[in-house]
Amino acid sequence: MKAVILVGGEGTRLRPLTYNTPKSMVPIMNRPFLEHMIGYLKEHGIDDIILTLCYLPDPIQRYFGDGSKLGVRLSHVVEECPLGTAGAVKNVEECLNETFFVFNGDIFTDIDLTAMMEFHRQRGSKVSIALTPVDNPTIYGVVETDAGGRVQRFIEKPSPDAVTTNMINAGAYIVEPEVLSYIPRGQNFTFEQGLFPLLLERGDPVYGYQSDAYWIDIGTPEKYLKLHHDVLMGKVKKSFHGERLGEGIWVEGGCDIHHRAELEGPIVIGRDSVIGSRARLKGPAVIGRYCTIGTGSFIEGAIVWQNTRLGRGVLLKNCVVAENVVIGDRCQVAEGCVLGGNLIIGPGESLPQGTKLWPQNSA
Ligand code: GTP
Repeated sequence: MKAVILVGGEGTRLRPLTYNTPKSMVPIMNRPFLEHMIGYLKEHGIDDIILTLCYLPDPIQRYFGDGSKLGVRLSHVVEECPLGTAGAVKNVEECLNETFFVFNGDIFTDIDLTAMMEFHRQRGSKVSIALTPVDNPTIYGVVETDAGGRVQRFIEKPSPDAVTTNMINAGAYIVEPEVLSYIPRGQNFTFEQGLFPLLLERGDPVYGYQSDAYWIDIGTPEKYLKLHHDVLMGKVKKSFHGERLGEGIWVEGGCDIHHRAELEGPIVIGRDSVIGSRARLKGPAVIGRYCTIGTGSFIEGAIVWQNTRLGRGVLLKNCVVAENVVIGDRCQVAEGCVLGGNLIIGPGESLPQGTKLWPQNSA
């Protein structure tokens, strides 16, 4: 079974994490996001995958290569300029001659793709859209279906009194290749505003596959942090790398954890990291590879990328710190802060709630 994964977007809402790193490469539990996604596809028998790239393609191509390390066949197609979600699929049309999946490259889910394919075939659908429920449909585009699942309307950000459903597009589709003929070649064209409304207008069968399985997109730093917390707290099924040192504590090889450090799970610590004396790590939290956490530092609910160094007595709370950051002694980084890569924060600094710092080498 084939799939196209869309990984060409700039990920502007996830900045500053996506200045130097494409959204699909941001680490989730110390592995690139896309690696988790490919593993999930493989579980459902999807092992022939086309990546459509545009923004920062090199790190993705270098890391994944031909996919053989993950046991899949990967091909990469780089767009010269962004073609939009549907335009990107049109661009690889010649590789798609049977029913295929399309995924936004920023969704983390355990929707049952095998059952979705069955649903698609039974209904004789031209395009099936995975639908997921949300608490507040008024800030999303919702998808209205009839009792059999056939899509009736797409309603963009309905006002509270016009809400008829809380089902939104989950960014996973099953597509019959013939519908690609409706997408203009070489132009920016999307599924949401372009192809789907066109198919409804033509009266072609478009179905919504409703699922209440776990689903989140990592479009914003808040959701990026939430995904980590959900995975660590066991809200979604996932195995962790490393040795289990205690209740909810996984540590990869080569780490040096001082006997006076205190770890309270769920925590994942990447390989070759050093945790100093009296440092206190309170989960849910992730420490990347090659990190140093100085004496007496306190981390709670934070995600720290690789090669980052914290001095003595640093406090991190429910924040994200990207790679190669140096945080001086006694710094305090409050909730919701997002620190881009390669920064140096001098000793004693206090970053208030929600501070976002751009990476050192950004424009
Ligand atoms: P924002 O800038 O924060 O809106 O993020 P984004 O650029 O990723 O856009 P969005 O979240 O709407 O995109 C959904 C998915 O489609 C993501 O996985 C994107 O990488 C991908 N995508 C968006 N636009 C393009 C494009 O022009 N080409 C390709 N190949 N993929 C795209």
